[in-house]
Amino acid sequence: MPHDKTVITAVSAFSGDDVAAMDYNELIALVRETNRPPGGFRSIVEIATNGFLSGGSRVLEIGTSTGLTAVELAGLVGCRVTAIDINERSLEEARSRAKAAGIAHLIDFERRDATDTGLERGTFDMVFCGNVTSLVDDRERALGEYTRVLRDGGFLAAIPMYYMVAPPDDLVQRVSEAIQTTVMPLDRTFWWEFFTGDELEVVWYRDYKFDEIPGEIVDAFVDAILERPHLVALNQEALAVLRSRYRSFMHLFGENLSRMGFTVMLLRKEPAEGERELFTSTPLT
Ligand SMILES: C[S@@+](CC[C@H](N)C(=O)[O-])C[C@H]1O[C@@H](n2cnc3c(N)ncnc32)[C@H](O)[C@@H]1O
Repeated sequence: MPHDKTVITAVSAFSGDDVAAMDYNELIALVRETNRPPGGFRSIVEIATNGFLSGGSRVLEIGTSTGLTAVELAGLVGCRVTAIDINERSLEEARSRAKAAGIAHLIDFERRDATDTGLERGTFDMVFCGNVTSLVDDRERALGEYTRVLRDGGFLAAIPMYYMVAPPDDLVQRVSEAIQTTVMPLDRTFWWEFFTGDELEVVWYRDYKFDEIPGEIVDAFVDAILERPHLVALNQEALAVLRSRYRSFMHLFGENLSRMGFTVMLLRKEPAEGERELFTSTPLT
C-alpha cells in the first residue's frame, strides 16, 4: 500500500543519532503505540453502559490523540462523536483509524483546545475527558468549558490518574522529564474535589489500582512492538537505540504506575434551576 511504502521509506532514513534525539512522543509515534485511556477498552465500555449512550447520543471527546476512544465509542453504540486534540499529527492518525474501522461518517476529528473549544453551549449528551485534564495548564478553565458545552442532565466522563502511594521526588522528576510535562504528585481526593461542585454531581464511579507488571513482561512487550512490519526497514543501529530507549521509558512508566490508581467517574450536569438533594449519601465501597 502506498501509505505503508511512504512510512517504510521515511523509517529507513533514520540513523541511530536521529532516534537518540527523539522525545518520548516522537518515539511512540515511530513505533505506533496505541494511546488509550486508563483501563483501556474496559473503561470505554463502563462509560458507554453506565452513561446510557445510544445511537442518538452526541459525545465530545477531549484529547483524543490517535482516536481509540472515539472509534470504539462510535463503533459500540453508533453515537456521533466530535473528537478534539491540539496535535494535528495525532488527528491525522485518528482519521485513518476511523476510516479503517468503516465509521469515519460518525466522527469529526477537529483541532481545538480543551480550554476554548469554540463549540456551542449545551450541545453534548456526554463529554469524555479520559486522563487528559491533568495535562492541561489551566485545568479549571478546561472544566468550565466541558460543563458549558454539556446539556443539562448530560454526563461528564473522567478517568483521572493519581498516586496511591507517595512517589519519591526523583521518580516524579524522571517521569516529568520523560513526558516533558511537570508531573504533580496529586492524590484521589484532589481529583474528586476538582470535578465535583455545584454544577457536577458524581452519579457512578469505580476505583482501580494499576497492576505491577514484571520486568520480563515489559521487555517482551517492547520486543513484540519492535517487530511491527513498518519497522523492518530501520537500520540495525537505529533499531538498537530505539529498543534501548523505548525499553527504558516502559520500565520507568511501570515503576511509576505501580504506585498509581485511577477512578472511572460519571458526573451529571445539574439543571441550573431545581431543588438540590439535602440528605446526600456516600457509597460504602
Ligand atoms: C494522554 S493523551 C490522551 C489519552 C486518552 N485519549 C485518554 O482519554 O486518556 C493526551 C492527549 O491530550 C492532548 N491535549 C493536551 N492538551 C490539550 C488541550 N489543551 N486541548 C486538547 N487536547 C490536549 C494531547 O495532544 C494528547 O494527544
